[in-house]
Amino acid sequence: MDIALAVIGGTGVYRLAALEDVEARHVDTPYGAPSGPLRIGRLGEQRIAFLARHGEGHALPPHRVNYRANLHALKHIGAKRVLALNTVGGITDAYGPRVLACPDQLIDYTWGRESTFWDGEGEALHVDFGHPYSPMFRHKVLAAARVTGARVVDGGCYGATQGPRLETNAEIARMRRDGCDLVGMTGMPEAALARELGLEYACLAIVANWAAGCGDAQEITLAEVLDNVAAASAGLPELVAELARG
Ligand code: HPA
Repeated sequence: MDIALAVIGGTGVYRLAALEDVEARHVDTPYGAPSGPLRIGRLGEQRIAFLARHGEGHALPPHRVNYRANLHALKHIGAKRVLALNTVGGITDAYGPRVLACPDQLIDYTWGRESTFWDGEGEALHVDFGHPYSPMFRHKVLAAARVTGARVVDGGCYGATQGPRLETNAEIARMRRDGCDLVGMTGMPEAALARELGLEYACLAIVANWAAGCGDAQEITLAEVLDNVAAASAGLPELVAELARG
């Protein structure tokens, strides 16, 4: 049976507990090992692959994730569509803690990451990236959310920072001026690599906290982040199952 959907889980989402008949696949790639085993199982009638981006024990910080291996491994097992779950901070008013959002744009502030499969061999491939998230697949995510009753904000700009430290107030103020609504550390190069491989890719951002200097932001703690991610993720298995069907 084909893989109907691949899901990459971010901070606070290390398993899809609703998956049944799960088989762990240890895949190696020309780019090294992915973050952990691919857990392939069934959600309803559909086959779904799940990968914990940071490793199942959250051992890998954002700049150490082998994004190329992760995407290559998912492509290798036959995935065609990838839903990326990204834990983020909210910058603008509509993106407060516990909001789910499906951004339609991104700005890349990361540096020093392996950000392409075209690494000196053959002709460089300048993939089109004007719409970094697959428009059709985004619509399917939003449609699935409507069916299951999950509230998902349509659109927004994701700013990908290097981390692992959080941002200064001035950095977030600059990102706001740049047009960012959300800030996270793992959105790139993942989205671009997915495009290079011809995978359909969309981000479902889970807002864990107000970004530095925004909303009523206090000091950002891991406990707060995990608490908000858990609360905001309650409807995810249903949404993922519906998306896999469509
Ligand atoms: N900044 C960057 N990444 C994040 C944040 C943040 O405030 N919260 C969760 N991931």
